[in-house]
Amino acid sequence: MEEQIIEGRFDKIAEILAGKCSGKAVKIRGWVYRSRTSGGVCFLVLRDATGIVQCAVKKDSVDGQSFQDASEAYLESSILVEGSVRQDSRAPGGYEIAATKVRLIAKGEPFPIAKDQSTEFLLDMRHLWLRSQKLTAIMKARHKIVYYLREFLEKEGFWELAPPIITGAACEGGATLFELNYFGQKAYLTQSSQLYAEVFTTALEKVYVFAPSFRAEPSRTVRHLCEYWHLEPEMAFYNQKMNMELQERMIEYVAQKMAQNHADLLLFLGRSPEKLKAVRAPFRKITYHEAVEFAASKGANIKVGQDLGADEEAILTQEDEKPIFVTNFPSKIKAFYMREDPKNPGTVLNADMLAPEGHGEIIGGSERIWDYDELMRKIKENNLNPKDYEWYIDLRRYGSVPHSGFGLGIERLVKWMLNLDHIRDAIPFPRTINRGYP
Ligand code: 4AD
Ligand code: MG
Repeated sequence: MEEQIIEGRFDKIAEILAGKCSGKAVKIRGWVYRSRTSGGVCFLVLRDATGIVQCAVKKDSVDGQSFQDASEAYLESSILVEGSVRQDSRAPGGYEIAATKVRLIAKGEPFPIAKDQSTEFLLDMRHLWLRSQKLTAIMKARHKIVYYLREFLEKEGFWELAPPIITGAACEGGATLFELNYFGQKAYLTQSSQLYAEVFTTALEKVYVFAPSFRAEPSRTVRHLCEYWHLEPEMAFYNQKMNMELQERMIEYVAQKMAQNHADLLLFLGRSPEKLKAVRAPFRKITYHEAVEFAASKGANIKVGQDLGADEEAILTQEDEKPIFVTNFPSKIKAFYMREDPKNPGTVLNADMLAPEGHGEIIGGSERIWDYDELMRKIKENNLNPKDYEWYIDLRRYGSVPHSGFGLGIERLVKWMLNLDHIRDAIPFPRTINRGYP
């Protein structure tokens, strides 16, 4: 049996559905997606990584074991089917396989997931639920989105480097740090690889890291994870204006590629490709002050000096069909490494990119402080211990240059591009305040 299912030539369901095998004999292996036996025919819907196809197993046309295997298979049993392909408008996808041979690979046990199960149950069964058509489509789309991000950065001449995940100090403030015992010393799971990306710019100028970031987020929202994938480009000799232009072009590139090349995935997920086609640079820019005034005028409970939350971000982007930038946040509510705007004292040269349709912040970026004295002042103002940042401060001692960068949350981007209700479906195994299993 093992040889039969491993060696030799097999067909992929997508090729059958594309009409490439019409009238031909095929051999496919996969999992039972659905099955129904009536009279002397068993209809098996089979799934592989590329799609689903119906197989008709007629008692009279196959050997005894084939019919028995087909009719005894459970949902999600693994199975091998041989047969010939014919066009059939009644079958899902328009093609059907008239089986000549069926063999169970592993029957297993009855599948625990049936219809109408609760969200919590499906999350407990995530290791099995990841086979569902919906999650499979999302993971394919996520793969493509990450692929196009990398492709864009490659074309722009960026180098990808690997940052450490275990770190000695905070990047985004102490409140959301996961602490761990590192052979008797305090260490943390990284909140952001930015500070290390800044190191890499001094060797390779245009760099990015793509790694998990960790946030001990006590919040239960549809857009917070405790572990998420973070794409962080960092560029030497870039100011904030160039930084924002790069972000616009990158998001436009990915949106256009997804709309052009993956309309099938988008439509399957109920997302109109037109929404992504509308994403063209440049994006609208407003300052933090304008944003607060506007949100307050629409009834949001926010005052100057407070950070924007999900409600304000939704109000701000209500009329937009593509992302917007909010610039110049007050220095006091932003991270220590952001450079002050010489033209707007008290504010920093930063921007958050907010996605439309209520999805909110997907990118945070800024021009970095590159002057030694300014950095030391900000470290003190933020009550940070300079000892913890000695290596980072060194970058301002030895050949410092103006530089900028940003961080994009991949799951936030996927959530927006696919218009998902909840961020947890943008990652295979979500880690949230109340979930670390499976
Ligand atoms: O705005 P943040 O905290 O910025 C930074 O970490 C910078 N050091 C990035 C940089 O400049 N290199 O996070 C950046 C992005 C956010 O815009 C959001 O997309 C995502 O990371 N993010 C989260 N995604 C999911 N769950 C969370 N808890 C997230 N926190 C931030
Ligand atoms: Mg942010």
